[in-house]
Amino acid sequence: MDSRKELAEIAGQVAVCTHCQLHYSRKKAVPGEGPADAEVMLIGEGPGFYENEQGRPFVGAAGKFLDELLEKGGVKRAEVFITNVVKCRPPGNRDPLPEELAACSGYLDRQIEAINPRVIVTLGRFSMAKFLPNARISEVHGQPFWNRSRLVVPMYHPAAALHQPSLKVSVERDFARLTEFIQQARAAASRAAPQAPEEPAPEPPKEDKPTQLSLF
Ligand code: URA
Ligand code: SF4
Repeated sequence: MDSRKELAEIAGQVAVCTHCQLHYSRKKAVPGEGPADAEVMLIGEGPGFYENEQGRPFVGAAGKFLDELLEKGGVKRAEVFITNVVKCRPPGNRDPLPEELAACSGYLDRQIEAINPRVIVTLGRFSMAKFLPNARISEVHGQPFWNRSRLVVPMYHPAAALHQPSLKVSVERDFARLTEFIQQARAAASRAAPQAPEEPAPEPPKEDKPTQLSLF
C-alpha cells in the first residue's frame, strides 16, 4: 500500500483504539506526524499533558527542547517523522506498562515499515528497549548500531535531559552528530544498492521489408 495511505489508516485506528487501558483516560490519541517518506524517525515514550490535549507529539516543554536539538543537529522538524512507543497518555505521565507497550507495538511496527526510515533515533529507555532490550542508556547513548538495515541511535529523552544538566550536555552532544549519522546511513545504503544496470542491448536490426505472410 501507498505509505501515506497506510499512515493515515494507522492514525485512524489509533484514534479509536481500545487495545489497552490507556484508552480510558486519553483525551486524544497521538499517532505521530511527519512525512511518509521521512529519512529520519524519532521515537519517544508517550504523550504528555499537552500532547494528550492536542493529539500531536512533542508539543510541550520537551518538544520545545527537541526542536532546538534538531536544529542544532542540522535537521528540520518538518522533515522527520515523530512518534512514541505508546500512542495514548499514561495517567500522570507514569512509565508505560509492559502490557501497554506490547498492545501498542503493532502500530509502531507498521509505521516503521511504511516510512522505511534510514535512521531511527530512540528517545529514552522505553524506545531504546524496543531495539536493545538489555542495554543501559548511560552506556549506549549516542552510539549508532544497525538494525534490519537501519541505523538506530539511542539518545536520552529530552524531558529527562531538561532537568539534569549532565544529561543535557550528553543529549546536545549526541544530537549535534545527527547529520553525521544520516550521512553514514546514506553511504551504507548506496554501497548496498545494486550496481546500475548495464546499457540495454541494442535492438536487433529491423528487416527492410516487412515479412509477407503468404496465405497461399
Ligand atoms: N514525551 C514523549 O515521549 N513524547 C511526546 O510526544 C511528548 C513528550
Ligand atoms: Fe491502543 Fe496504543 Fe492507545 Fe493502548 S496506547 S489504547 S494500544 S493506541
